[in-house]
Amino acid sequence: MPIAAKLNMAKILYVDDDADLALITAASLMAENHDVTVINEGPEGWSILKSNQYELVILDWDMPSLNGIEILQLMRTAGDTTPVIMLTGRTRLDDKMQGLDTGANDYLTKPFEVGELLARIRAALRTKVAAPPPPKPLGANNEHVLNRANLTGTALAARFEFVDVLGEGGVAIVFKARHPQLDKFVAIKMLQGSELSEEDKARFESEARIVSKLDHPNIVTVYDYGVTERKQPYMVMELVDGPSLRAILEEHEYVTVDEALPILLAITEGLAYAHDYGVLHRDIKPDNVVLKQELNHQPIPRILDFGLAKLLQMNAPKSANLTQAQQIVGSPAYMSPEQVRLQSVDERSDIYSFGCLMFEVLTGYAPFLGDNPLEIALKHVEENPLTLGEVRPELVTTFPPVLEHLIGRALEKDPAKRFQTIRELQEELQKSSLPPPDSSLWNRLRKFRIF
Ligand SMILES: Nc1ncnc2c1ncn2[C@@H]1O[C@H](COP(=O)(O)OP(=O)(O)O)[C@@H](O)[C@H]1O
Ligand SMILES: [Mg+2]
Repeated sequence: MPIAAKLNMAKILYVDDDADLALITAASLMAENHDVTVINEGPEGWSILKSNQYELVILDWDMPSLNGIEILQLMRTAGDTTPVIMLTGRTRLDDKMQGLDTGANDYLTKPFEVGELLARIRAALRTKVAAPPPPKPLGANNEHVLNRANLTGTALAARFEFVDVLGEGGVAIVFKARHPQLDKFVAIKMLQGSELSEEDKARFESEARIVSKLDHPNIVTVYDYGVTERKQPYMVMELVDGPSLRAILEEHEYVTVDEALPILLAITEGLAYAHDYGVLHRDIKPDNVVLKQELNHQPIPRILDFGLAKLLQMNAPKSANLTQAQQIVGSPAYMSPEQVRLQSVDERSDIYSFGCLMFEVLTGYAPFLGDNPLEIALKHVEENPLTLGEVRPELVTTFPPVLEHLIGRALEKDPAKRFQTIRELQEELQKSSLPPPDSSLWNRLRKFRIF
């Protein structure tokens, strides 16, 4: 809720999701006779900005749903030249450069002295002129992004503002987009390229159909599926705002046992649910788990990318079978030996891939590494994995023996020797639990400013 104070110096909008800090800071600015409006959520900040004129805007960077740099980008793309000060915990030089290059007039890092902020506000107000709006591949009318995705002029592009690219693979591209009427952010996944094979299209449709049947807190939600005028299929999904496990590993190398356990257990919940519904994921890996950021709560893992998913025990006629017998599906680092061998797979293959994921999350290394996909794939068939402690001797005392044993069992070459169901694995995983984790990953991530 806006807290307005009458005043005469400058009309300032301050957007920061840290409500306490925002209040204290705003109080200091008001004491200097500024007229300050404080907003704690990015989308609300952006909608207020669009309908009001301010003399200065202060933006936090990391906020859920719509962050400060995105607001800044939206402002500059819309031609708004109001001076902006980024006030953020991000201290890295490349972040500062990005902030200024995006059109911030000034950049101040937290923790900060209020006196310095006030001096910078005075300086920004003296200048009164914002940086020129840099052309950025962002915003509702961005021809570049829309063109690349073959979306220019389509009804889909008219319905949504395409804000950013969330992920891009060989086949698919995933956008962050906003529905202006609902003021709601979504993720839109599309197949890339103008010449899509019928098989790609059928698989994409199958992904949409399968995920839309799954209704679980640890599985991404699909809202809509359609085909553009150019015959390009798209899927509108819930936007899972937060980093993927891959992004976390890139930033932190590995995740400690007590921080990883709640995440891993939540993934087993989602997987068990999918298996109960007869759905195999077949591409479980850190890239395909995104942690939904919840204010003041533990992040909620969401499994996504059911592009290779398959309905179990469905004796579909061969012609309708999307995965031809000879086709390798999956990602080499996480493929079960039976996937590598092109044998038929069941839920125990997902259990193996999940074993690889656990291994990597806890150590920072996938169990089998190699110079090329073939070498890695063969190691799944031929080589025994090291233990967590062998890979990370410095952490050996932090790995409970039950966890070492559990991962060893998930990574058994012979499916018959693995856990037979994900629920069995989950029960064991619960035994690895230390006392309730107090240092939530969320807090650690905030500290490291991943969000
Ligand atoms: N609903 C979503 N919310 C947020 N990010 C997403 C969403 N869907 C996909 N992504 C991001 O885009 C990346 C690619 O999406 P994915 O469905 O895995 O496509 P691909 O089939 O190309 O791997 C993911 O790794 C994730 O980072
Ligand atoms: Mg993926």
